[in-house]
Amino acid sequence: YRGYDSWGIAANNDGKIDFHKQVGKIGQFELKRDLSKFSGPICIGHTRWATHGGVTETNSHPHFSCDKRIVVVHNGIVENYQELKEKLEKKGHKFASQTDTEVIAHLIEENLKSTQGTVPKSRGQSPSFVEAVRKSLNELEGSYALGILDRDQNILIGARKGSPLVLGVGKNEYFLASDVPAFLDKTNKVVFLDEYQMAVINDKGHKILDIKNGKTITPKISTISWSLAAAQKGGHPHFMIKEMLEQPTVIEKTIATDPKELVKAATMIKKAKRVYIVACGTALHAGMYGSYLLARENNIMIQPISAGELPYFGHLLKKDDLIICVSQSGETADVLEAVRSAHKNSAKVLALVNVMGSSLMRVADSSILTKAGPEICVLSTKAYVSQLAMFVMISSYLAGKPAEGKKILLEAKVGVEKVLAKKSLDNIKKLAKRLAKVPNLYSLGRGMNFPNAMEAALKIKEVSYIHAEGFAGGDLKHGPIALIEKGVPVLVFVADDGTDKEIISNAMEVKARGAEVIGISFEDNQVFETYLPVQKSGVYTPIESIVYAQLLAYYIALEKKLDPDKPRNLAKSVTVK
Ligand code: M6R
Repeated sequence: YRGYDSWGIAANNDGKIDFHKQVGKIGQFELKRDLSKFSGPICIGHTRWATHGGVTETNSHPHFSCDKRIVVVHNGIVENYQELKEKLEKKGHKFASQTDTEVIAHLIEENLKSTQGTVPKSRGQSPSFVEAVRKSLNELEGSYALGILDRDQNILIGARKGSPLVLGVGKNEYFLASDVPAFLDKTNKVVFLDEYQMAVINDKGHKILDIKNGKTITPKISTISWSLAAAQKGGHPHFMIKEMLEQPTVIEKTIATDPKELVKAATMIKKAKRVYIVACGTALHAGMYGSYLLARENNIMIQPISAGELPYFGHLLKKDDLIICVSQSGETADVLEAVRSAHKNSAKVLALVNVMGSSLMRVADSSILTKAGPEICVLSTKAYVSQLAMFVMISSYLAGKPAEGKKILLEAKVGVEKVLAKKSLDNIKKLAKRLAKVPNLYSLGRGMNFPNAMEAALKIKEVSYIHAEGFAGGDLKHGPIALIEKGVPVLVFVADDGTDKEIISNAMEVKARGAEVIGISFEDNQVFETYLPVQKSGVYTPIESIVYAQLLAYYIALEKKLDPDKPRNLAKSVTVK
């Protein structure tokens, strides 16, 4: 599900390495050679998003050592590659590409000289190879998820630091991938590699080693409950639309969250002296919604902080403080850093996370699994709704009224179904056709709808590349109103939560300056040029109203002939800071 500009594969077929590299997306251009006979018991493949070196076949992975014995694919960045490259060049290594990755293959080749034994005489197991890989990994700075082949033996090594890597354990077969959906059609048994862990796979089985000290670690094999169908498009043209259509089911699944988990979360929140919500992007918007909700319904003051900004406050965290980390992937580097900083100061960490076995889940003191299921589209849609819904459940447990949360969510589910109904989709398509031509778009909300307005703008900018910003109604006069001119579309989120009159006044203000107001509201108003209806759901309205913005973003992208599943420059998990 990641964007990429070139790809490559390599197979070790009994001591012969076959490989193929090509620029463009798989299937975009005709294959440069017939791959029908491409085979081997051990294969690696990679899709590359160029960072170091242009988009060329030579720069695409896999990369090789001078003697072509070592073959490497890599996700991440080797920060000290220049320094390593210079040293290796002095020792006679010749580099073919401009990438940082190639240095890894040459470094292993160099280290093989110093670890005992070099090329095994027969194609048996060479412990020195594993040792040479481990030694090399310890010399790398930066991040890596690696797949490494040795031409001279039947072995595959995977290694992880900073970038996610999972090992799928099948029947007489293994898979290494950045994420579980890549091999879910083959196995649901998974080992989530931890930081500084490497997997050594050969015909005898697999073992996990600590990269730092070489010690063997007993692997924990988890069983993933996600179905294969959930990770496939299922007849839909894009994952984005499929995932948006799944939102009623996601809400239903959230209602069925294990009460024990919710009681534990509520207890942690009640016990804490100070509570912070730490997340990025869409997850931060969901966290902001949570902070408004818990303030209003439970009288609990929670400070939301963007995870990337936490380091500037982290030193003030104390024992008895709690940070609630919200993350779809559970791999976001800034969020994981925030956890380290909280733990350093003895604060507790509660995670709301969508991926079982993810790094966040493993390091948090307690976690609740959000119920979105695999989210493949780079844009977060159903995960956002699942996070909002989970905050509703937590709030109802905090209030000691669990049945209330379930009732609210069942009503929200009906509302979301209405937004996703055919008639509504047709309306949004028409609106998208018009909006696809605008250069700027704004959205407004107050209270619970302020994070929603920001989330709406984020969805639209991510996938349609239209400049979109979300503002709090009260902030309008403090600057943003200067942007309003004739014809600029403004989405106005209105809820029957006590903020409706004020936000309608804001709508009037922008309309008076020529804006085209699109109202997402529980009742029509003369200020709206276009009216998109939602139920009277008070503070829970955002669960329904955001779905309009998601759909709008999707259909604008289609109008502009853009790929909604893989927006430019974005990755699904932001595993580097
Ligand atoms: O996996 P996470 O929820 O931690 O990811 C956080 C953000 O990177 C993510 O929500 C991002 O903003 C998405 N592109 C939103 O669509």
